[in-house]
Amino acid sequence: MSNSPFLSNCTEDTIREASAALKAGHLVAFPTETVYGLGADARNPDAVKRIYEVKGRPTDHPLIVHISSINQIEKWASEIPDYAISLARVFWPGPMTLILKRSEIAGDFITGGQDTLGLRVPSNPIALALIQEFEKISDSAIAAPSANRFGQVSPTSMKDVEEELGLYLSTYDKILDGGNSNIGIESTIIDCTRDYPKVLRHGFVTPEDLCGVVVLKDESSSDVKQIKFSGSFSSHYAPKCSVFLGGNPKPGEGFLALSDVDTPNGVHRISTPTNVHEFMRVLYASFRRADHLGLPAIWVQIPSESGLWLAVLDRISKASCGNSNV
Ligand code: TXA
Ligand code: MG
Repeated sequence: MSNSPFLSNCTEDTIREASAALKAGHLVAFPTETVYGLGADARNPDAVKRIYEVKGRPTDHPLIVHISSINQIEKWASEIPDYAISLARVFWPGPMTLILKRSEIAGDFITGGQDTLGLRVPSNPIALALIQEFEKISDSAIAAPSANRFGQVSPTSMKDVEEELGLYLSTYDKILDGGNSNIGIESTIIDCTRDYPKVLRHGFVTPEDLCGVVVLKDESSSDVKQIKFSGSFSSHYAPKCSVFLGGNPKPGEGFLALSDVDTPNGVHRISTPTNVHEFMRVLYASFRRADHLGLPAIWVQIPSESGLWLAVLDRISKASCGNSNV
């Protein structure tokens, strides 16, 4: 085993080493196509406890369990509706998390005491290889939140993870390097505990995508139970600088907009993405860059509030805590 927590070349050996670290109760941060996750053995209460300590996250906030394929769904969940299976068949592996009734092996220590569990099969090949290897040696799966301190911006590179959690990880923990996250914002979360699916967190899988497969619950319905869901707090995914939605930055402030939008005078243009995919990919890195530059604020201008922009808008709104230029 190497002494460094950083495993840069994700070969079969490094995957085995990381998997062994998980088995021994240590933490492994790993790349997924959405953001980097901070993983632990989902059946080991002590290991999962360390996730909460390292993140500084309250223990009643549930974690997503990452499994290798739809074949593992019945091990972790029960009373699975047909529509959830249809969604899993179409969108797994991929950036979608299903909330289901938990099975007996899913402990209170991962669900925050709730009787439901989040499940996801990521598509990133390093994540999948790690989960497959870990399932092989452990009869378990990987519980993982985003690998950032509670309430902060999710990491989209190994360097971000080091910056967020380096101080809190032990020398036995590992960080796998998978380059920059391809999508850049967290998975779409869908509540599958009722008659109809309901989107709890927007992401790369959009309501339009879902409607091609299932009937979505009417968002305006009042028949929505209260579930504990940390990403639904009003301030989340937030950098140190103030985040504003709109296009009126003052000189000395930061600005993120599509490449066809001009940069106002004296403003720091943080990035010039050319389309919504690129915009998502650079959003969190732009927040971090604004902090590194010591800027007081970053203004984010988007051209639309539908389709994939809905998820971008959601993260800006959470980070901005309602700031806007209107
Ligand atoms: O893309 C992602 O989803 C990333 C990667 C690493 O998979 N993970 C992620 O995990 O964003 P986390 O813990 O940072 O955010 C997951 C959200 C939290 O807001 C949590 O409250 C919610 O999912 N969640 C997890 N289990 C839940 C449950 N049983 N019921 C309701 N919400 C749940
Ligand atoms: Mg998170």
